[in-house]
Amino acid sequence: MADARPFHWEFKPEPVAREVFRVEGGRRLSGSVSVGGAKNAALKLMAAATLTGERCRFTNVPEIEDVRVLTEVLRDIGVTVDHPERNVYEIASGDVDWLFVPLEAAAKMRASFILLGPLLTRFGRVIISNPGGDRIGRRPVNLHVDAMRALGAEIDYRNGYYFAKAPGRLRGGAINFPQITVMGTENAMLAAVLADGHTTIEPAAREPEVDDLIEFLRKMGAQVERTAPNRIEIEGRRRLRGADHSVVPDRIEAGTFIAAAGATHGKITLTGATCDHLGSFLDVMASMGVSVSCGADTIEVDATNADLEDLACCDIETQPYPGLATDLQPPTCVLLTQARGSSRVHEAVFEDRLEWLVELRRMGADVEIEDQHHAVINGPSPLHGADVEIGDLRAGASLILAALVADGVTHIRGAHHVHRGYEKIDAKFLELGARIERLSEGT
Ligand code: EPU
Repeated sequence: MADARPFHWEFKPEPVAREVFRVEGGRRLSGSVSVGGAKNAALKLMAAATLTGERCRFTNVPEIEDVRVLTEVLRDIGVTVDHPERNVYEIASGDVDWLFVPLEAAAKMRASFILLGPLLTRFGRVIISNPGGDRIGRRPVNLHVDAMRALGAEIDYRNGYYFAKAPGRLRGGAINFPQITVMGTENAMLAAVLADGHTTIEPAAREPEVDDLIEFLRKMGAQVERTAPNRIEIEGRRRLRGADHSVVPDRIEAGTFIAAAGATHGKITLTGATCDHLGSFLDVMASMGVSVSCGADTIEVDATNADLEDLACCDIETQPYPGLATDLQPPTCVLLTQARGSSRVHEAVFEDRLEWLVELRRMGADVEIEDQHHAVINGPSPLHGADVEIGDLRAGASLILAALVADGVTHIRGAHHVHRGYEKIDAKFLELGARIERLSEGT
């Protein structure tokens, strides 16, 4: 057992400013709103920038708390992160003098673990905190660690930290995941692009954010290709160069607004959004009776003709892409409370992601939670204002949706969770005619 003293300081989480959303329900949404870049792409792209000493420039980066936290983590280890204008970030990783990602980073944002692959492959070593689980499930990182080992890394786990070393360069290899993992695929890819030789990743996640990362890596000079729907192949390079990239639109933010328009029987236009990555979700919308029209970079949603009786119930099951995204399960559930009949919900990706339905029930929803993965929603139920608590960001955004539908005033505590992943969500709902404000807790 190595000396553990350096890691035994007392970890004191920073106090989070407690905010509450106050929402007055009962208004149909109408108007136009813009969709930002995808959180789950932006974070990985920023991590990829550490693969080169040259400058990388990202546009359409969402101004969200998780991007701010990753910026802080990168700066702490010696990376230069400039923020010349809104939604634009420039990253130069010439000097990285501190190959250590501390518990503070992991505690604030699980996705900080995406730095394992790029730092290990470029600098040959890194010490990184185990992010542990969160409110939506256990969320282990064993598959990321196994992938690094398959590329020749030596990794020990002590005192909550992974001590990772690459003797010489990492070497290409066959990475066979026992199940699909999004960040596991991305971490493996980020390590393999600078490894010596050929890597195959199977089954590789198919999420659009993974393909956005592939596109960026190719601009950096990496030889990486999706050679089959579930397979990514990489020929490692010695060096990568800087590149520019615009972050892919956020399909989860778009889906959240589509569900909001449906639930309030509104009519809205989303700009900067694409239907391309929303296939399974749009199938659910179509079977429920929410009309969605897709343009080149706009989406129109019209639910004004559907009175309560017209929304149809629908059984849903979340799956890795191209299935229905687990991140869209919560907003879809809000819509299901307004549909006629019983809808079965199967959350197949995370084990605790139905917990938030307890809060939805406090607003009058008729929900039976059968077990960790299954629930039944009976509708339509008139929702009413209540005092509810947010546990994670997608649930938080969805409680706002429920509050928009509800009769009366809802107070939603824990607003900081929502700021992690949605840029100016309250301002966007205000633009669409909602009555929403942000208050400090206790006011
Ligand atoms: N898993 C393991 N071991 C691992 C990795 C994953 O057992 O080493 C399990 C997970 O516990 C889970 C399943 O595999 O049951 C799939 O998890 P995955 O690794 O695909 O999830 P992730 O990469 O950690 C990303 C998004 C999530 C999104 C999921 C699924 C980021 C930063 N996060 O998480 O986004 O729900 O993919 O699409 O990309 C969110 O944005 O709110 C969010 C939670």
